[in-house]
Amino acid sequence: MWPPYPYPYRFLHNQPHKCRDRTPFLVLLVVTEPGDTAGRNAIRQTWGNESLVPGVSIVRLFLIGVHPVFAQELRPVLEEETLLYHDILQQDFLDTYNNLTLKTLMGLEWVSKHCPNASYVVKADRDVFLNLAYLVRQFLVPPKTNFMTGHLYQNTAPLRNKGSKWYVPHEVYPNKTYPPYCGGPTYVLSGDVAQKVYGVAQTLPVMNMEDVFMGICLHALGLSPTAGPWGVYNMVRLQFERCRFSRLVMVHHYQPQEVLRIWPRFQGAPAMCHR
Ligand SMILES: *[C@@H]1O[C@H](CO)[C@@H](O)[C@H](O)[C@H]1NC(C)=O
Ligand SMILES: *[C@@H]1O[C@H](CO)[C@@H](O)[C@H](O)[C@H]1NC(C)=O
Ligand SMILES: *[C@@H]1O[C@H](CO)[C@@H](O)[C@H](O)[C@H]1NC(C)=O
Ligand SMILES: *[C@@H]1O[C@H](CO)[C@@H](O)[C@H](O)[C@H]1NC(C)=O
Repeated sequence: MWPPYPYPYRFLHNQPHKCRDRTPFLVLLVVTEPGDTAGRNAIRQTWGNESLVPGVSIVRLFLIGVHPVFAQELRPVLEEETLLYHDILQQDFLDTYNNLTLKTLMGLEWVSKHCPNASYVVKADRDVFLNLAYLVRQFLVPPKTNFMTGHLYQNTAPLRNKGSKWYVPHEVYPNKTYPPYCGGPTYVLSGDVAQKVYGVAQTLPVMNMEDVFMGICLHALGLSPTAGPWGVYNMVRLQFERCRFSRLVMVHHYQPQEVLRIWPRFQGAPAMCHR
């Protein structure tokens, strides 16, 4: 039931040279499903655009596993997509909800091995509105170390009811409460923490809730996440409003096609919005 780890999951698609000629300020890791080419295209044109923040070097990578049913059919599609964009990381584990933790760990493995000098790693789900320019300018310069931020959850407890989608047995996690952790839709790690988490993850039993697992890794490292300022990481959907959206980092529950529609208006937000 639980993803085996430490692993040798093999890379089926890798981008080992992305950081050979430059050290990016930020590596953006985006969780998508293998068949979601349309979503990735929308993200490439909107919040995932590597050239979006002038003067800030960004590397964007999509994290995918192997489709549980249509792996064969998708192979040529992914082959073509990766030749075109060079932004797909895929390992040979099944792309399922309970394997989400493995996707994040794949991303952190890539950063540790191929881009260890990046100042930050941002992990984002596909169904978000993300404002990287605001994140970078307001919160990330000058670069920090031993730092993780996002929407903070504290004193949450494991669900011990076997029927629950988020059931966690005692053997996997014995304590009554989880350490503080940042909500999965979007969180930020300093580059050093990304590497430390990748290291310590290999000594802990992996859990299916990837955001909780990141918190457990941080706790094992003796670190705590920093709460993002109020209203900056929005776990509930907000109606689009360009000035408001220019002063926040993330809004959950925005599908890529919807972001594509509002993006021109967001880009056109007037200077009076004080971005
Ligand atoms: C990314 O943003 C740059 C600068 O705004 C723009 O010129 C470019 O067309 C965008 N790329 C995509 C794929 O939309
Ligand atoms: C996770 O991926 C591994 C390797 O492909 C697979 O054996 C396992 O069944 C998957 N786990 C879940 C919970 O889907
Ligand atoms: C990272 O920085 C170290 C120390 O400055 C340097 O030796 C190493 O070559 C850099 N690695 C990459 C991949 O840029
Ligand atoms: C679990 O509880 C023990 C005993 O109180 C404590 O030492 C440990 O740090 C806790 N672990 C986590 C992940 O919170």
